[in-house]
Formats: sequence, structure tokens, C-alpha cells
Amino acid sequence: MQIQTTVGKIQDQEAQAIVVNLFEGVAAPDGATGAVDAALGGAIRALIAAGDFRGKRNEVAVLYPAGSLPARRVLVVGLGKAEKFTVEGIRQAAATAARKARDLGVTQLHTVVHGAGVGAIEMETAAQAMVEGTILGLYRYQELKTQLEDVRPNVETLTLVEFDPAKLAALEAGAAAGRVIAEATCLARDLINRPANLATPSTIAETARTLAEAVGLQCRIMEKAEIEALGMGAFLSVNKGGGEPAKMVILEHNAGREDLPAVVLVGKGITFDSGGISIKPSQDLWKMKDDMAGAAAVIGALCATAQLNLPLRVVGLAPLTENMPDALASKPGDVVKSLKGLTVEIHSTDAEGRMLLIDALTYAGTFKPQAIVDIATLTGAQAVALGTPAAAVMGDEALVARLRAAGEASYDRVWPMPLFEEYGEQLKSDVADVCHVGGRAGGCITAGFFLSKFVPEGIPWAHIDMAAQGLADDDRPYIPRGGAGFGVRLLVEMLRRWNG
Ligand code: BES
Ligand code: MN
Ligand code: ZN
Repeated sequence: MQIQTTVGKIQDQEAQAIVVNLFEGVAAPDGATGAVDAALGGAIRALIAAGDFRGKRNEVAVLYPAGSLPARRVLVVGLGKAEKFTVEGIRQAAATAARKARDLGVTQLHTVVHGAGVGAIEMETAAQAMVEGTILGLYRYQELKTQLEDVRPNVETLTLVEFDPAKLAALEAGAAAGRVIAEATCLARDLINRPANLATPSTIAETARTLAEAVGLQCRIMEKAEIEALGMGAFLSVNKGGGEPAKMVILEHNAGREDLPAVVLVGKGITFDSGGISIKPSQDLWKMKDDMAGAAAVIGALCATAQLNLPLRVVGLAPLTENMPDALASKPGDVVKSLKGLTVEIHSTDAEGRMLLIDALTYAGTFKPQAIVDIATLTGAQAVALGTPAAAVMGDEALVARLRAAGEASYDRVWPMPLFEEYGEQLKSDVADVCHVGGRAGGCITAGFFLSKFVPEGIPWAHIDMAAQGLADDDRPYIPRGGAGFGVRLLVEMLRRWNG
């Protein structure tokens, strides 16, 4: 979709539709909404007075100026109570208006920047949120549909209209960043929604390579032979039952720039998690195509990092394999040797994600980074503990604090879990150095604790468990049902704030 900015009055726009807003409880709007209301001869005030529109969050009304304005339609979107209004309210309002416009058949939409006037949110932040909400809200996964005749075309252009020319630079900067970040999130959504017969280790690696070329990232695909030669026995143990050979995507922004602080991002890339020999029940098993959502978040975040040209060296690692049962598959009780050299006893082949992650975490040390962050759809226990509003985060305190702040700002929220030493007691093995799973109690934490044993000495590390965030089960204002693209906005926001 195209994003444009213009200086002018919203009521003067020649448009298929213009969007203005209203806070709850306002009887006579001022600002841009007031100007539109005046041009309409008080139609918005009448709407409010009749009790047909109260300005509740994500309420929308459509008015037809019939010649009193150059625009064909006026959309009024509710922002809820002014004192509760936040940047997240901007994203949701923008998404709600854009979806309504699409339902009406509008392809060119002109809008004020919600929150930047009466809401008192900084223009750059508000503009970014406007564009994020619009692009993310309008997202649809359609590449496998052949019957689209009855489907409304998507909105093609969004024009952000601002009255004050002094704010144009901030408006443009925010809009540009918002577009990059939202498109990277949509890219992650595509990878997640794409079914596991199409999104395999090799096709995801090829997609990553194509994307890298387009945005100027260095890309290297580590093939199975090299993974074997390096000794990533934990990663390979998951691949033994899989059809396609394992691969590791290595993306790099500012490759080799030793003068810049380096951050390594690691994403779990299980293209389908059947559970392996410890096979999962068949109910909802299709959802396990989302088990590469961590890898998708890392690939998306790297693309945005390159496009925003962040002053950091950022490496993205995405170990990719299916987890399938087979005569050659790993069995419960098997012991394998990790890249770090520690032997690991496999108790459940369904706890496969941590096996790839440990070898990728060890490998991450070769980049001598300032920090390592991994992100993974790792445990059902995370979903039990936190549900969908927040992913779990654990690890280095300062890094966790960075992620929490980035989570609040982006609304890809995370909440901390402790890594008390006692949790490690569940990971003792009778036959190997360590067992990779604990009991049911504290399952999200013991998974993180297991990972911590393989993080290179002295490098700050944090782990994000986003099991409940991979797929959205219900439609939210800017998160349609399906692959959510969680983590892209979180990681990019953390990186954008890195030196600040
Ligand atoms: N991919 C799953 C975790 C998951 C569960 C993601 C639900 C999304 C939704 C992971 O590989 C897994 O199977 N974890 C096991 C670990 C257990 C065997 C220790 C789990 O959580 O049950
Ligand atoms: Mn599993
Ligand atoms: Zn898994």
C-alpha cells in the first residue's frame, strides 16, 4: 500500500473518504472534527445528540456530505475516553477506520493523524502508529485463494493530512518508519500463515535470501553438512525424523562492522511440530505450522533493521527444521552432544525447540555480541501462565528491562519470569550432563533455564517465549485471525532504542 502525507485541511480533501475522530463524551467537537462538522452543517453534533455515536473506542460512523465537502464520505472513529488514550489507541483507531473504508469499497483514504492534536501525542510517534495500525489492520493472507471475485479490493493509498506545515517533517519520519515496521510484520505473518507443505526449511531459506537481497542484508544459508561438521548435535537430533534437511539462515546487517555494537537475534524455526515420537494429539495440530513464528519474527526484524539502517551490527539466526516421527527420528531417552559439548538427554521429542536454540545460542557467541535475544513458540506453559496479552521474558535484568520498555511502546508486550537457581534442579539427568525438560510445574521457566546453560559465558542474554502469541485465534483491530507477526515490532523497537 502507498503512504502519502500532505499539508492542508481535512475538510478540503477531494477524497473517496476522509477520517476524523471523536473522544467519548464530547458533544461539540473542535479541531479537525469540528471543522468537518461545521462544513457538514452540524451533522456530527446531530449524530452525537441523537445518541447514535458516543465516541467509544473503535466505534465508527459514516456520513455522506452530499456536496457540502469535496469528499464523498466522512468516517468518524471513536477514540474512547481522552484520559485513557494512548499510542495503542491510535493503532486501533487507524485499523478500525481503514477496515471500515475497505468494507465500503474505498481504495483511497485520507485521514487526520489521531492523537497528534487533542490527544497531545508527539507527531512522529502518532504518525508511525497510524501507519502501523492501517497496514496491519488491512493485512490479509490471500496467496492461496483463487476465488477472489467477491472480495473487496484493499485500500491502495493512505494520505495523512496535517494542517500545520511545521509538523510535516515529523509526520513523514513517523510514517516512513511505521511503513517499514508494519510491512516487516506482514512479512512475518505471511511466513507463519503459509502452510508447512509450502513453508519448509528450504523455501523459508530461499525467501530469506530474496528478502535479504531486496533490503541489503548479508545472507548466508548454513547447510546441513556444515551444521554436522560444526557439531550441532542437539539441533540435528530434531531433524532426524524430518523430510527436508535442516538449515540455518544467517542474516546480517552491517556485516563485519567490528566498530558497531553487535546484537544477535535467534528465532525458533520449527516449520511443523508434530511432537515427533512423543507425538501430539491431533486436535488443533494444524496450528503447529506456527512453530516457526520466532524465526519469522527474526527475519522480519532484520529486514526492518536494514531498511531503517540502524547504527548497530545485527545478526539474525534462524535454525529451521520440521519435527516429525519416523523410524530414524530421535527417541525419548536418546542422548546427544550439543555444540557446546554438553551431553543432553531427550525425555520428550516434543520439547524440540530448545534443542535447536541451544546450538544456535552457542553459535551466537562467535559474533562476540553485546547481547543475545532469542524468541520462540517454546512452551504451552507460557500460554497457561500469561495468555495472549503478553509473552514471557527472562534472562539478564538490563536486557529484560529493555525488552519490557520496547514491549510497552510497541504493544508487543512481554512480562518477566524468574530464573531462580532452584528451577535447575528439575533438569538433572541420570545418564547425561543435563536433561532437557523438567516437570509440568514451571514449564515455561525450566525451558528458559535449560537454554541459559548454553549461552556463551559473560554475554547478556534474554529469552522470549511467545507460544500464545504466534497465531491469533480471534480477530483484533489490527491483528486479524492467523499469524500475528508478534515480535517484529518488539525487537525493532528494542534495537531502535539501543544506544539511546
Ligand atoms: N511448539 C510447542 C509449544 C507450543 C504449544 C507452541 C502451544 C504454541 C502453542 C513446543 O515445541 C512443545 O511442544 N512444548 C512442550 C514441551 C514439553 C514437552 C516439555 C509443551 O509445552 O507441552
Ligand atoms: Mn514440541
Ligand atoms: Zn515446538
